[in-house]
Amino acid sequence: MEATGTAVVTGASRGIGRAVALELARRGFDVVATMRNPDAGKTLVDELGADAKGTLTVQRLDVTDPDSIVYPDSLKVLVNNAATEAEHPAFEDTPMQLWRDMFETNVFGLIDATRRALPLLRANGGGVICNVTSSSILAPMPFYGPYRGSKAVVSAIGESLQAEVKPFGIRVVEIMPGPIDTDMLAEGGGPVAASDSPVYGDLGRRVNEMRAGAAGMKTSTADAANDIVDAILDDKAPLRVGCDPMSVAMIEAWRNTPDQVMIDGFINGMYPEG
Ligand SMILES: NC(=O)c1ccc[n+]([C@@H]2O[C@H](COP(=O)([O-])OP(=O)(O)OC[C@H]3O[C@@H](n4cnc5c(N)ncnc54)[C@H](OP(=O)(O)O)[C@@H]3O)[C@@H](O)[C@H]2O)c1
Repeated sequence: MEATGTAVVTGASRGIGRAVALELARRGFDVVATMRNPDAGKTLVDELGADAKGTLTVQRLDVTDPDSIVYPDSLKVLVNNAATEAEHPAFEDTPMQLWRDMFETNVFGLIDATRRALPLLRANGGGVICNVTSSSILAPMPFYGPYRGSKAVVSAIGESLQAEVKPFGIRVVEIMPGPIDTDMLAEGGGPVAASDSPVYGDLGRRVNEMRAGAAGMKTSTADAANDIVDAILDDKAPLRVGCDPMSVAMIEAWRNTPDQVMIDGFINGMYPEG
């Protein structure tokens, strides 16, 4: 697609969303960088610089507040980036409220943001819904049930939606990031709550080591945003794409490996003693 019309990004206050908003505007879109607190976007226009082919404005949007989900008529691209992660207790220690809170933002918020965008995209002759999930979906990481579950729901929804909206020229692109240098990675890089568990502590500490290793391979938000915008613009891009070397390699392995081999390989690696 051409980099024209309006692109809306959720969760553009920081991290990947902020970098994607800037990159979309540099390429030519009129970007609405949405965020819960618009004060966080005060410097965004200055950061964009004079060479940008498009424009950037900031708007309040909380995906859990339906009244705040408002789009301009010229919408061509929606980037569903906003999400939260939690402290990763063991499954049996995870309160129901943690599941509900995570699904409220990562699933129901994204659904509401998407359903309100579709009539506009149809009226404009097509466009792109870009859902940011996670390459963690592809690896059965212990203690990540709520986060991975929320992202897997979005992944499945995106497949069905793609089948529904293809005739209207609307493409769904699912970005499955690996470790990207953001607050989420840094905060998620602390010990998982399960490492304090008298039952699951050993496994929790192994997960901490694995996460620290992955964080050591992190990609900048600017590099990730570049790949994400490439995928948005590429009409021939597959449904699922990575935006960093680790996610690209994981998606490649997932496409070429029987699922049980991939699952067994990961889980056996968590229990090196057998
Ligand atoms: N970084 C990674 O390594 C990584 C890996 C895999 C997937 N991802 C995914 O990439 C996306 C961006 O993550 P990130 O690393 O950039 O995270 P981040 O730095 O924690 O930023 C998260 C963004 O989501 C926003 N947000 C949270 N709840 C919201 C709500 N109810 N309404 C609107 N915005 C909300 C935050 O806004 P506030 O500033 O108001 O809190 C912030 O802008 C997420 O979908 C995440 O799951 C990231």
